[in-house]
Amino acid sequence: MKNNLILIGFMGTGKTSLGKLLAEKLGRAFVDLDQKIEQDTGLSVPKIFELHGEKYFRELEKKAVAEISQRKNLVVATGGGTVQDEENLRLLKNSGMLVCLTTTPEEIFNRTERRGERPMLDSDNDRLKTIKELLAKRQKYYAQADYTIDTTDWSPLQIISDILKHFRG
Ligand code: S3P
Repeated sequence: MKNNLILIGFMGTGKTSLGKLLAEKLGRAFVDLDQKIEQDTGLSVPKIFELHGEKYFRELEKKAVAEISQRKNLVVATGGGTVQDEENLRLLKNSGMLVCLTTTPEEIFNRTERRGERPMLDSDNDRLKTIKELLAKRQKYYAQADYTIDTTDWSPLQIISDILKHFRG
């Protein structure tokens, strides 16, 4: 039985930092999908987008998902777009519990302000509008999580303790 704890949700919802803390609490290994892709390729995510485009990044992401979903006892932080691929969503669902982190578009806007880190938000278009459009497009995928938590007004420790209460691992 695969018992991974998998964090999904939009950019800026805290998947990586909360995932690390959860892994510590559970005494488990932590895998951040983007970091895995960066280690496997020797390139940063923005560089992969710049050199090879989003489509190629999504292929690398699929490979990484296929690999980690074979493993167990992990805490996994996915990228914001990982679950918009049905196959990724299916594999991840089969490999453990999906927890979706959410917050408001405005909060995402503030948390993702630094340019150069998130290629999906780096165009010259209205960034808040882009965030809202992407969120709307991805909503149906995020909605398939086993548990969803709004992180807006909670401290990391509160969020973690709430997730652990619901985790059946
Ligand atoms: C993406 C989110 C990023 C990263 C890539 C694409 C997206 O991860 O995978 O830039 O499509 O939402 P984070 O959610 O960790 O920022």
